[in-house]
Amino acid sequence: MQADALNLLHRTMDAQLVRSEHPEGFPYLPPVPSSRYTDPAFARLEHDGLWMKNWLLAGHVSDLPGPGSYFLFEQLDQSVIISRAKDGAIRAFHNACRHRGSALLLEHSGKAMRFVCPYHAWGYSLEGELKSVPDQHDFACLDKAENGLKPVRCEIERGMIFINFDDNAGPLSAFMAPQAAQKEGYPLERMVVKERLLIEMNCNWKLALHNFLEIYHVGTVHAKSIAPYLDSPSFVVALFENGHMRFATRKKKGDTIFEADLFKPDDVAEVFNQCTIALPTFPNAFYALDPGGFSLQTFWPAGVDKSIMEVRLMGWDVDSDADRQHWQAMNGIVRNILSEDLCLFRSIQRSLEQGTIPELRFGYQERALYWFEEEVDRRIGIDAIPESQRVAQVLAGQMQR
Ligand code: FES
Ligand SMILES: [Fe+2]
Repeated sequence: MQADALNLLHRTMDAQLVRSEHPEGFPYLPPVPSSRYTDPAFARLEHDGLWMKNWLLAGHVSDLPGPGSYFLFEQLDQSVIISRAKDGAIRAFHNACRHRGSALLLEHSGKAMRFVCPYHAWGYSLEGELKSVPDQHDFACLDKAENGLKPVRCEIERGMIFINFDDNAGPLSAFMAPQAAQKEGYPLERMVVKERLLIEMNCNWKLALHNFLEIYHVGTVHAKSIAPYLDSPSFVVALFENGHMRFATRKKKGDTIFEADLFKPDDVAEVFNQCTIALPTFPNAFYALDPGGFSLQTFWPAGVDKSIMEVRLMGWDVDSDADRQHWQAMNGIVRNILSEDLCLFRSIQRSLEQGTIPELRFGYQERALYWFEEEVDRRIGIDAIPESQRVAQVLAGQMQR
């Protein structure tokens, strides 16, 4: 972000600080039906229209440090091998043997220069070709060339690995383009995963994600942990095409929980020193860039009323005891902050399930939640959603191009 753009951002934040009325001309946000979070039929619409058709953030290139490194993507009732070949290329395959369907890899991550099925030992190359079949003479007419692993679309953007289960989807670059400029000046591809957390939650995945799309709750829920670092009333939101967004909040003390003077690179743009820049990435990823590192979070359904938050703590490529200790400590700090939010999620789900709260109300500070819900409907296809479960499409005029 250039100096002019940073000045403009500060002026936009200043305007927020003195605002005491609903912004003139900003649309009314109608209530959002609670059944979107409780109805298995709505979850099925999401499965078909959202999860099976969109680019999904599966990991970071540093999850695959060298040839043969792999990890498994195991959300959405899928098992996908994501691995790095000898030439450095990253590919994704369904973790399913072409013989009788066994998973090839059972460990979440590791190193394998060949995928050998644990059932009858069919062997596949890192490029997915079927290379070896024990007693192949017993399989009349088996054409090995026709029986490679089933590929899954896999593309990289700024160090982030995305997969897509839809062979007909457009390129990742086009999907991400509306948000791309917001990451300039932050060397995401040089980051490394320092810590990884998996957190189970007793609520619909969208309710969990909502929590990260506003800072309206920070003053109450995080009064001591986050609020001291953020000038929350300065919070500004940019809505982009494809459901992506950018949040900017001025830092209060000039630092955040992620500041670590030891490890700050000197080529991070100034905007990231002055502001917390958060980048909600449709449908289910959230991270807030900070010169000291950040927490990369993805949210996945595990049933209509259960979900999983996958957290990667991202830092710089420093190999030292001090760095390891720092990130172990950050693991605890992040867990504590998340637990401040998480303890409320089950009660929200219960209120919606019991019909006590038939619809949710989003205010202006929660416009990002509404934009997200609108995009969910657009991706599923508005006509495919029962009228009683749709959200009205009201925010297109507020989108930034
Ligand atoms: S299922 Fe893989 S070798 Fe038989
Ligand atoms: Fe929170």
